[in-house]
Amino acid sequence: MSHAIKEPDQTLTVLGLESSCDDTAAAVVRHAPGAAPEILSSVVADQTALHAAFGGVVPEIAARAHAEKLDICVEQALEQAGLGLADLDAIAVTAGPGLIGGVLSGVMVAKGLAAGSSLPLVGVNHLAGHALTPRLTDGLAFPYLMLLVSGGHCQFLLVKGAGDFTRLGGTIDDAPGEAFDKTARLLGLPQPGGPAVEREAASGDAKRFALPRPLLDRPGCDMSFSGLKTALLRARDGVVAEKGGLTRTDRADLCASFQAAMRDVLVEKSRRALAIYMGGAPAAPAFAVAGGVAANKSLRAALETVSAELGCRFVAPPLKLCTDNAAMIAWAGIERFRAGARDDMTLMARPRWPLDQSSPALLGAGKKGAKA
Ligand code: KG4
Ligand code: ZN
Repeated sequence: MSHAIKEPDQTLTVLGLESSCDDTAAAVVRHAPGAAPEILSSVVADQTALHAAFGGVVPEIAARAHAEKLDICVEQALEQAGLGLADLDAIAVTAGPGLIGGVLSGVMVAKGLAAGSSLPLVGVNHLAGHALTPRLTDGLAFPYLMLLVSGGHCQFLLVKGAGDFTRLGGTIDDAPGEAFDKTARLLGLPQPGGPAVEREAASGDAKRFALPRPLLDRPGCDMSFSGLKTALLRARDGVVAEKGGLTRTDRADLCASFQAAMRDVLVEKSRRALAIYMGGAPAAPAFAVAGGVAANKSLRAALETVSAELGCRFVAPPLKLCTDNAAMIAWAGIERFRAGARDDMTLMARPRWPLDQSSPALLGAGKKGAKA
């Protein structure tokens, strides 16, 4: 079977694969030019239970689970879309950045599928998948500003085209999700920590503990969260030393104080990133968030407010498309394919792959592997 070369303005139906961290995912997205893209299926098999006992993602366990689950996810995605391989125009796969064993599993499966069906292969940067999601969900026009804020990533991106990103800044150490998860562990709350901390914070006093707002005294959009984590540990130990333990109120106050510090940093850095972006006088200004931490209601509300203050539309895609999924990879594949991107059997799995080669992340490998 061989596929006629598609004109860029034709309808495209693409299968996407994602396996760069702890979610195995496959999805089919269809796009007719001029119409809104359609997610025909989106299957996500998460590995939370496999890693639960280890307090973080174990790369070897993740890679093995991806290798076992990818075929099943692909089958389900095609079945739910009511399509076979012959109905597709391309296979898109996350080729990095991420945990290398998982990325390799996905790339190998995608190469097998592409070779067996003579379909074109498109390697997608996982971060581009997140960054292009607001075009899939809300049809945003370039250029827009994106804050990617999850358990593995934290960066501001100017998204100027499907392959054209400028990184305005990001974390120099931990990602916010990691800090939320660590906070939950320190306070005996369940994982994932973000939702648990948010729940506790709702009844807490955010002013009781004066936690630091790291790097606010320095210009620019870079952030740091490891000191905040340590400050929380000290505050907790202070209470324990004084009273011999934590009451429910102490725990709620610690959570509220931590969440407020995190929010203040992200809001102030967003204000600066927005100022840079708005300085370019975009025609239809928009600020989009993605990543699991964007689920935090108090953070989301604060980001929406700062965006409105600067005259910018605020967009938060539905949560299941903000966290890791394959629909975003299929969509990024469509955008890249239309731009002429094609890969072949030489496609490499890359543990690190900065979106903006001229301004890569300063350093850091969080619990979810290298941050780009
Ligand atoms: O994007 P995601 O599902 O996975 C990756 O990190 O790739 O993000 C997961 C992170 C976890 O660290 C989790 O604690 C955090 O997002 N998170 C939250 C909330 N919901 C999830 N953090 C703060 N508040 C929340 N409501
Ligand atoms: Zn991700």
